[in-house]
Amino acid sequence: MLIFRQLFDQQSATYTYLLADSKTGAAVIIDPVFEQVRRDAALMEELGLQLMYTLDTHVHADHVTGAWLLKRRTGSQIAVSASSGAKGADRYLSHGDQVSFGGRYLMVRATPGHTSGCLTFVLDNETMAFTGDCVLIRGSGRTDFQEGDPHEMYRSIHTQIFTLPESCLLYPAHDYRGLTVTSVGEERHFNPRLGGQLSENDFVGYMKNLQLPHPRKMDIAVPANLECGLTQSDPTAAAEPDWAPLAYTFAGIWEIEPNWLEENADAVQLVDVRELVEFEGALGHIRGAKLIPLGELSQRVDELDRERPVVTICRAGGRSAQATLIAQQAGFGKVANLAGGMLRWRAEGRGVDGGSA
Ligand code: FE2
Repeated sequence: MLIFRQLFDQQSATYTYLLADSKTGAAVIIDPVFEQVRRDAALMEELGLQLMYTLDTHVHADHVTGAWLLKRRTGSQIAVSASSGAKGADRYLSHGDQVSFGGRYLMVRATPGHTSGCLTFVLDNETMAFTGDCVLIRGSGRTDFQEGDPHEMYRSIHTQIFTLPESCLLYPAHDYRGLTVTSVGEERHFNPRLGGQLSENDFVGYMKNLQLPHPRKMDIAVPANLECGLTQSDPTAAAEPDWAPLAYTFAGIWEIEPNWLEENADAVQLVDVRELVEFEGALGHIRGAKLIPLGELSQRVDELDRERPVVTICRAGGRSAQATLIAQQAGFGKVANLAGGMLRWRAEGRGVDGGSA
């Protein structure tokens, strides 16, 4: 079975696509965004996937690719177009190549026009294609900078994308209205720039009069992407918590492991967010934990020391996950949730005050 996820970066309105073969866990990720690498890595970790390749549809002008950072975190290979001009990739792709992940693969089609190195990735059975900034939903990528050429884009779309089956779903690199997917048939009929009877000259006329401002991040993004997202100073790593070995979840929560906490309990403030009856009940509580029920945490957050890390605790790790968000919103920088809560703590035979055997 194919595992498929469409992920979104709000800053740049970029879609990142994760595809994996469920049998082997081998995955590829298309157009990852630098600032979302932590999120994407957490999702792959939770789904038990091994990232084989990062693929970029082109040298983006509006965001920095996460390719290099993902390679550093997961050991994945960077694949980009041979015509992109990007340095530092592990694999350079040309029209007709295949990129395999487990028993599945993507076919590479050259679709220049937005940039001269633009690629479209077509799934092995032609049910999905990832068009980058070539065909967008009822639109198209712009052709007025980098090596943009509306004539070339028109031909790319008509020879490489509109020739796919009508039912083939098209997933673009961006959508600014929140639309998520379209199909070859829909765009052939309804794309206002390209559909129906519109000719190459109609398209070129349309594209020459878009009058769009340049992307805000262009001066940073293009040079960084020409090195596959390599950065000397790494803001993501710099922001990585160093007070404890924490794991980030796809749900957006920092978690701490029970064994580390047991050995380092003195270095942190333990905040138990259960109700009093639970705190004094059968599961007991961790020695030194301060009881602040979740419903009181916002009002009582100033009872905590802002200089020391906070670890939140509850029965199973759910309410305490919410507690980490409340503490973060109150300005606490070092906060983590005890993974699995008191249930896991007890199941692992760790010590408690109170409670029953
Ligand atoms: Fe682009």
